[in-house]
Amino acid sequence: MRLGNPTMLASGILGLSAESLGNIVMAGAGAIVTKSVGLKPRNGYANPTIVQTSYGLINAMGLPNPGITEFVKEIHEAKSFGVPVIVSVYGFSAEEYATVAKKAVDAGADAVELNVSCPHVEETGSEIGQNPKILAEVVRKVKASVEKPVFVKLSPNVTNIAEIAEAAAKAGADALTAINTVKAMAIDTETTVPILSNKKGGLSGPAIKPVAVRCVYEIYERVKVPIIGCGGITNWRDAVEFLLAGATAVQIGTAIALKGPNVFKKIKRGINAYLRRKGFKSVNEIVGLSHCS
Ligand code: SIN
Repeated sequence: MRLGNPTMLASGILGLSAESLGNIVMAGAGAIVTKSVGLKPRNGYANPTIVQTSYGLINAMGLPNPGITEFVKEIHEAKSFGVPVIVSVYGFSAEEYATVAKKAVDAGADAVELNVSCPHVEETGSEIGQNPKILAEVVRKVKASVEKPVFVKLSPNVTNIAEIAEAAAKAGADALTAINTVKAMAIDTETTVPILSNKKGGLSGPAIKPVAVRCVYEIYERVKVPIIGCGGITNWRDAVEFLLAGATAVQIGTAIALKGPNVFKKIKRGINAYLRRKGFKSVNEIVGLSHCS
């Protein structure tokens, strides 16, 4: 898959409507990843579903989505924006992941990204992605059902992310997205109870960037599959750090809420200025460069 620039919208808070995806393309994203979609409609959790902390957001939305059948029209519309459309999918079994992925690809998705890393919905997400055997089965089933690239979004909430990455790669993953959110919670000191209705959620934003960079670095050392860096990228320097760690592209999510959608243009320009200043001809020349020292 070729991108006009190495920035992508991360699956997350935005991305359930073609209109919101279109705004992100106008803001400069080289590709868009939708919010995760499943086989059936899901309401998600009751409010509050997001808490702002000093260095990021904790969310537990509960995978709200209209279901793939209804979502197909958003995929059709998103296809007109001229950048690759990657549909994030989840399921409660390998078969379900495969069915949703096939429907997404049939509707025009350029790739699917398997959400095997949502840290707070039972029987899907990280309950699949934390177990290399179950993860491999999901990846194999999806690979057998679609002829487009399959990305696997990994959880940082594991002992050894490189081992999980290797299981996904051996099962046929075409790219690995690292990382999803870090399991977290916040408690209101006045009411004395957890703030999120689901109590626990996933931390995103600047607080998790060093964790994400470390994960990309470790995966790059173990697995020869393209890595998409994700986690706390808010400026061009953050993006370059991920590329140096081994990512070939980066995903941006929480920074849109913190800084607005123009963050894509700023990061893109900043990466280009860095490459020129350092005498590099392309992003490819700096991918994994930190491993050479
Ligand atoms: C959510 O919808 O709750 C977030 C999904 C995720 O963390 O993967």
